[in-house]
Order: sequence, then C-alpha cells, then structure tokens
Amino acid sequence: RPLDINIELPDEQSTQKLKIGIYFATWWALNVVFNIYNKKVLNAFPYPWLTSTLSLACGSLMMLVSWATRIAEAPKTDLDFWKTLFPVAVAHTIGHVAATVSMSKVAVSFTHIIKSGEPAFSVLVSRFFLGETFPLPVYLSLLPIIGGCALAAVTELNFNMIGFMGAMISNLAFVFRNIFSKKGMKGKSVSGMNYYACLSLMSLLILTPFAIAVEGPKMWAAGWENAVSQIGPNFVWWVVAQSVFYHLYNQVSYMSLDQISPLTFSIGNTMKRISVIVASIIIFHTPVKPVNALGAAIAILGTFLYSQAKM
Ligand code: 3PG
Repeated sequence: RPLDINIELPDEQSTQKLKIGIYFATWWALNVVFNIYNKKVLNAFPYPWLTSTLSLACGSLMMLVSWATRIAEAPKTDLDFWKTLFPVAVAHTIGHVAATVSMSKVAVSFTHIIKSGEPAFSVLVSRFFLGETFPLPVYLSLLPIIGGCALAAVTELNFNMIGFMGAMISNLAFVFRNIFSKKGMKGKSVSGMNYYACLSLMSLLILTPFAIAVEGPKMWAAGWENAVSQIGPNFVWWVVAQSVFYHLYNQVSYMSLDQISPLTFSIGNTMKRISVIVASIIIFHTPVKPVNALGAAIAILGTFLYSQAKM
C-alpha cells in the first residue's frame, strides 16, 4: 500500500513573503556591515567626500564588470532614461555625501536617529512641494517623530552642528530621490538592480569634481599615509569593505523596492536603522544617556505610528 505522505506546497503568497523577508534580512545585515566599516574608515581617515566617491566608484565598477562578463544583463536604455535619471542622481549624490559627512562628525547612532525622521520630511515635502494632503492622524504621527529626534539631538553627548545638518540634508535629499525614483522606475523595463547601477554611475560622475574641489588629492595623500601608519596595511581592506557593502546594501534595497510598496519600503528602512543604532552603540561603545535613548525610541515609535496612519 503506498505511503500516505502529506506534502504541503507553499502557496504563492507565502513564497513571496519569504522572498521579501530574505531581501529585508540581507539588506539590514549588509547595511550594518557597511556602517561599521564606514565609521572605522572615517575615524582614521576623515575625508567623507572621497569615501563617498569610492563607494560609488566601486559599485559602478562591479556593475560594469558584471555587464561585460554577462553575469548580469546590461539594461537597454535611451537618452530619455538618462535624462529622467539625472534629478534622481543629483538627489542621491547630495543625500549620500551629506550622510557620510554627518557620520564623519558624530556617532553613527546619532546620524541614524536623525535619519529615522525621514518620514516627517516626506510628508512635509509632499504637502508643500506637491500639494498633497494627508489625513489628520498622519500629521499627528509627525509630532513624536520630530519631538523624539529633537530630544535625542539636544541630549546627544557629542553633538556637532555639521553632523546634525548633514543628517537633516540627507533626509531632505533622499525624500526627493525617492519621489523622482518612483517616477523614473514606473513603466520602465530596467530592473531594480540595473536602475541602482545606472544611478551609481551617474552619481559618480556628478560627485567626482566636487570631491576634488572640496578635499582634493593633496589632502587625501597625506590622510591616507597617516591612516596606514595608524592602522597598518589592513586599512585598505576597510575601505574596500565599506565600498563593496555600500553598493550591495543599496542594490538589495532597490531590488526589494521593485517588489514592495514605497510604504513597506520605508517601514523596512526604519527597522534597518534600529539594527544599525544598536549594533554601532555596542561596537563603538557609544555613550548614551537614558533620556537620549528615550528620544530615539520616541522617534522610531513615531515612524511606526506614521506607517499605521498612512495605511
Ligand atoms: C549613505 O551614505 O548614502 C547613507 O549612509 C545612506 O543612508 P540610508 O541608511 O538612508 O541608506
């Protein structure tokens, strides 16, 4: 008599959930590693304009090699695609360099606490630039986000104005990047992975002349020598790690953006910040006062209330 074996095949919905779960876990893990190496590099070599450029250069190179060797299929693009990509790339460049400048001045955890206020910027930009209105609970959810960030900022032990402003500028720039990206990705046949690759290439072209003007090879050479003498030859691997992981986490995040709504994306992004804040406080022994942690918790809770209100 044949054995009665009950095999339950996973339905399509649970397979999709599993896939998104894997994307999210990979995205957060890659992001934690990026943040750790990025800060280690910036502590020894405080040139955020160069490290931001290297992250984009590394990602661009990885993708050019993948296309040339056919590991990944190159996207079919036209002039119109690159024209639409330009504002996205400008916003991505500003957001990236501003966040890196911020992290060169303050603790990683502080930058990410301020960056957890991104939904508040999203609502304000949509309201004042796009004329979109939201139901009252959405506006009310901004109160804990803004209040929590403000409390965390005023009680931050190592507060620095450039660090604070860098994170704020990054928030604003990334809101514009997300609005423009959504428009640019709509109806286009370019995958999330290739869209991010093209974005890296264009941002690299935009950022390079500014990085040379703001910092420049003379400063970099002296700083590099100093960092290698402090850390040893391993320093170069730290730079490689921060650059490779920067590209990988962004690529995975754009791959998941392809599959989910922008709202689910922003919830995932906030949860990512919790893992970065906790990991960086442990690894860098960042001093935190209870009231400071309370501010961060209120801001993050506010983001969850915001996502609920938007749903
Ligand atoms: C960057 O350098 O671009 C920032 O660290 C990115 O911040 P994110 O956490 O918003 O991706």
